[in-house]
Amino acid sequence: MATEIEKPSVVLSKVAVSEAHGEDSPYFAGWKAYDENPYNESYNPFGVIQMGLAENQVSFDLLEEYLEKHSEATNWGNKSCCFRENALYQDYHGLLSFREAMARFMEQIRGGRAKFTPERLVITAGATAANELLTFILADPGDALLIPTPYYPGFDRDLRWRTGVKIVPIKCDSSNNFEITPESLEAAYNEAVSMNIKVRGVLITNPSNPLGSTIKKSVLEEILEFVTRKNIHLISDEIYSGSAFSCTEFVSISEVLEARGYQDAERVHVVYSLSKDLGLPGFRIGTIYSYNDKVVTTARRMSSFTLISSQTQQLLASMLSDKEFTQNYIKINRERLRKRYEMIINGLKKAGIKCLKGNAGLFCWMNLSNLLETPTKEHELDLWNTIVHEVKLNISPGSSCHCSEPGWFRVCFANMSEQTLEVALRRIHDFMEKRRLIV
Ligand SMILES: Cc1ncc(COP(=O)(O)O)c(C=O)c1O
Repeated sequence: MATEIEKPSVVLSKVAVSEAHGEDSPYFAGWKAYDENPYNESYNPFGVIQMGLAENQVSFDLLEEYLEKHSEATNWGNKSCCFRENALYQDYHGLLSFREAMARFMEQIRGGRAKFTPERLVITAGATAANELLTFILADPGDALLIPTPYYPGFDRDLRWRTGVKIVPIKCDSSNNFEITPESLEAAYNEAVSMNIKVRGVLITNPSNPLGSTIKKSVLEEILEFVTRKNIHLISDEIYSGSAFSCTEFVSISEVLEARGYQDAERVHVVYSLSKDLGLPGFRIGTIYSYNDKVVTTARRMSSFTLISSQTQQLLASMLSDKEFTQNYIKINRERLRKRYEMIINGLKKAGIKCLKGNAGLFCWMNLSNLLETPTKEHELDLWNTIVHEVKLNISPGSSCHCSEPGWFRVCFANMSEQTLEVALRRIHDFMEKRRLIV
C-alpha cells in the first residue's frame, strides 16, 4: 500500500504529477464507495451493489468446464511439456500458436465476414495497453484524437496521461440516439483546428461503451470517408464485439475494408481484447490488428513493454483453437447477455425508467434526466450521489463519460448473479416509488 505524502519534498516528473491519470472522476469514486461497503447476499445485504464495472461473469461455467476437461492446457509445471520454454524470455512477437488462434477467434466473432492474419496481430497486456501504444505511435504530445461522446472514462487516462495527447470530443446526443454524423465529425475537427491542435485520428468504440449499441455500417463508411479526406487515422476499439446479441448486428470496420478491397486500409487499426468477450480481464490479453506495415513493426517493438506471459498465451492458444468450444461459447454467451439485458430493461421499465435501445455490451444507458431539478452536470452528480450512498448502487454518471446531455447513466448488468440484479432492480423501483410520493 503506497504511503500518501502530503507535501513531497522531492520533485517528481511532469507525468507523475499531472492530473491526466483521470482517477478523480466519479467513475472511480463510485468504485471506492463499493470497495468500502460491498454488497453480499449473506453477510452484507445492505451494502453497495457494483454496477459500475463492465465485467462479464455470465459464462464462467463454460470456461471452467473447458479447463476441467483440458487439464493439459494449464499443465505448466510439466518438464516434458513446456515449463522451460515458458520460463525463458519469449520472442516479443508472441507465440505463433496464440496469434493464430486469436486471429481465427476474431474471425469467428465476425461470423467469418472478415479475415485476419497472425502476421498483422500484435499482442499487448489488454486493450488498455493496445490503445495507449497506438496513441504513442500515431500522435505526438499536444496532438489530438477525436472521440465520440459519451465515451469510456478510462480513455482519459489511457490515451492522454503518459502520451501527452489530447482528446477532442465528437459531440453526439439523444436527438438521433447518439449516432455519429458527418456534421459532428467536422465540428470536432474544426474545434481542434481553431485551438491550433493537430488532429491525428478518430477513435471509435464499436459496440459502444457506454451506449451498449453497435455502429451502423453506413456510419462506419462515413467515418472512413472522413478520415480518408482528412488524411488521418482510424482506431476501432472492438473489445465488445462478441457481446453483440447477434453476430449479424455487429459490423466490424474490417468487414467494411474487405468490401472496399482494402482501399485506404493503412490508416485503420483495430483494438481487441478478451477482457469482455471471454470475461478474462485479469488475464490481460489484448491485441492490435493494424493494416499498416510500419505500425505493425513499431507496435511489435513497443509491445515488449506490455507482453502477455507465456503461460497465458499457451492456455489461450489451446482454448481458442478448440472450434467446438469457441462456437458453443460465443453462441451461449451472446444468448445469456441478451437475456440479462432484457431482464434489466424490463425491470427499469416497470420502475418507469427508459433506456437507449441497446443490442450489445455489458451495460445499458439509462435516462434519468426527468429526475434532475435542472439539466446540469451538478444536478446529475447530486442524483448520482444519492443513488450511490442512499440507494446503494454504484452506477456511472454520464458526465464521467463526457456525455453532452445531463441525466444519463451507465448501468452494468453482467458482473453479478441474477439474484443480485433482482435486488438492484428492487432498490431502483423503491427509490422511484419514493420520489413519486414526494412529488
Ligand atoms: C472501450 C474500452 N476499451 C478498453 C478497455 C480496457 O480493456 P482491457 O481490460 O482489455 O484493458 C475497456 C474496459 O472497460 C473499454 O470499455
